Amino acid sequence: MQKIALVGCGMMGKVHFNAYSLLGKSGFELKYISDVIEERAEKLSETSAGVRVADFEDILYDEEITMLDICTPTYEHKDMVIAAAERGKNVFCEKPIALKIEDSYEMVKICKMNGVKLGIGHVTRYFPEYVKNLEIVKSGEIGKPVMARMYRGGVFPLRRPESDNWFNDVEKSGGVIVDLSIHDIDFSRQLFGEVKSIDARSAKLSYKNCPENFDHSMVLLRFKDGAIVHIEGAWSQPTAIPTGFKTSFEIYGTKGMVDYDSEKSTTFKLYTSVDSPEYSSMNVTGVNPYALEIESFIDALNNNKEIMPNGTEGLEALKIALAANLSAREQRTVYMKELSFND
Ligand SMILES: NC(=O)c1ccc[n+]([C@@H]2O[C@H](COP(=O)([O-])OP(=O)(O)OC[C@H]3O[C@@H](n4cnc5c(N)ncnc54)[C@H](O)[C@@H]3O)[C@@H](O)[C@H]2O)c1
Repeated sequence: MQKIALVGCGMMGKVHFNAYSLLGKSGFELKYISDVIEERAEKLSETSAGVRVADFEDILYDEEITMLDICTPTYEHKDMVIAAAERGKNVFCEKPIALKIEDSYEMVKICKMNGVKLGIGHVTRYFPEYVKNLEIVKSGEIGKPVMARMYRGGVFPLRRPESDNWFNDVEKSGGVIVDLSIHDIDFSRQLFGEVKSIDARSAKLSYKNCPENFDHSMVLLRFKDGAIVHIEGAWSQPTAIPTGFKTSFEIYGTKGMVDYDSEKSTTFKLYTSVDSPEYSSMNVTGVNPYALEIESFIDALNNNKEIMPNGTEGLEALKIALAANLSAREQRTVYMKELSFND
């Protein structure tokens, strides 16, 4: 039975709060919610009986709390995860794990030293279309996967008040690759394994919302097994665009392909047997993926199962995202083996 505190009641904090309400109360209790802007936590707590507002420090010293759910801005993840681990709390932390490799290694190490589990919110692993795609690829239905194209984007994630525009600061959010495309980087690793080299470029399309940072990126990953993956990430769509956030992917194998586009009326298509084509299309539906990832973390704690994705998986995705930032900055190919991180 987990007693949980949710820290950070902004955009993702609300999504997680809603996810707990969808899960009912089996195997856990959401005891506290917390935000430095207390009114945000107060307002959210009014929507659910029994959930109390508390300070981060008080939460750390409450012996009953066994799990923290960290939904604070990325630049806060390291200190909060370490503080929680040192007080013996398991931690589910939103992605990206942190902003630096060294910090991520430290987080993983300190969680291990304190015998607590660390999960990272790479939620595409729980989106039904991504799960279905992985099942198809692993079954061999499209042959050997050899290349893929992925897209994820929408408007700039502006936060109010304007002084809270932390996504604009690359030192605080890591930029569009580290913050957004990291989902597709993690997804690519599930499909193709380990990355050999990276070429990336970044551009700025919106000067109003994002004056200091890049808001549009393309990343080309070359994998050790020869596969290539092209990942596009956008924070640059016009604010008034009617469609909002979009995700898509195309996975090409030696015997077929999978095509998914969140904006098409039939979102998911499978093409197999290239010479005598077979075709199926469907709308893959499922449970709220945020509820599923949290449920899976709680289940792993209650039943001593492996955490997936864990801190190390978060760290591996971050390495690639940071290598892509380096490639974009220096306008050159970056090889994973040239990066030495202090572990
Ligand atoms: N998995 C996903 O799909 C997804 C989507 C968006 C954001 N994220 C990630 O979630 C994290 C949070 O992003 P967001 O969009 O919710 O940001 P946000 O700015 O909307 O919310 C962050 C909240 O944390 C609070 N906060 C800041 N410092 C705090 C502290 N020390 N103690 C308590 N509260 C504190 C802020 O007041 C704010 O309410 C980021 O790491 C982001 O990359 C994940």
